Amino acid sequence: MGRVFVAGSINMDVVATAERHPRIGETVAGTALLYFPGGKGANQAVAAAKLGAPTTLIGRLGNDAFGDRLKAFLATQGIDLGFVQATAGAQTGTAVITSANADNTIVVIPGANALVNAADFASLGIAEGDIAVSQFEIPLPAIAAFFERARAAGATTILNPAPAIACGAELLELVDILILNETELGFLTGVELCDTDEPARFVGAARSLPIGRGKVVCVTLGKRGVLALIGGEPRIIAGRTVKAVDTTGAGDCFVGAVAAQLAGGNPIGNALDYANAAASICVQRMGAAPSMPTAAEVEAIVPR
Ligand code: RIB
Repeated sequence: MGRVFVAGSINMDVVATAERHPRIGETVAGTALLYFPGGKGANQAVAAAKLGAPTTLIGRLGNDAFGDRLKAFLATQGIDLGFVQATAGAQTGTAVITSANADNTIVVIPGANALVNAADFASLGIAEGDIAVSQFEIPLPAIAAFFERARAAGATTILNPAPAIACGAELLELVDILILNETELGFLTGVELCDTDEPARFVGAARSLPIGRGKVVCVTLGKRGVLALIGGEPRIIAGRTVKAVDTTGAGDCFVGAVAAQLAGGNPIGNALDYANAAASICVQRMGAAPSMPTAAEVEAIVPR
């Protein structure tokens, strides 16, 4: 089995729950203030590890109370933390989240995540058959350095370009599998998309991305499921009908599950079905990292 290496953000999610989201300029009474381990990198690493893949997380924490709490949590998740550094003088990344009606808004303050750089990967033992995963909550030059290293070793690279920011075609050229939602696809292609669009519109937009036809593009569409282009051919994976309570981290669960499946030698088609099921479990629980399912939970709905 290969190893999953995730280079990415580690955040404390500070979550205010309410009956509904406030409008701009409005104040509403909330129902609870909750603290959950989060950050796209940490969430994806937790998902991969709980689904059975040997997993290494590369990232930075501040030297503060949130950093200590996050490190203690991650240490219980079976993740190799040898490449997670506590950085003097930096604050741990924090996400301020409002959660209402199973929908959220998120403001991320990167803190120590913004200091991840190429030197952090210098002694990484990545090899052929391993899977390298990243997202856009650490600096783009660091992601490029990580993927260059992974490519040189013969590993597969997965990019989740979230949250969407402008990036050069050179970075996309280093990517084997791109996993993004419709907002991120719209941003990267300049095509106006909404979640009620016909699949053909997503296929057209995905095909216009500046990445080779041999790559996999996977568009996550929330409760509608997933649309993937595998070798240029579209494939639709229907969403599972569940009662969502919190969608925070569901996309990260999907990415971590795909990575874990590929590290285990499974073909991409099966990996996407499995990840779709994993994400449907994640949305039924509050919080990001603590909501990631175990392999036994996923296999109960997607038999091996
Ligand atoms: O994808 C969800 C994550 O985005 C949250 O855990 C939050 O930390 C932000 O990074």
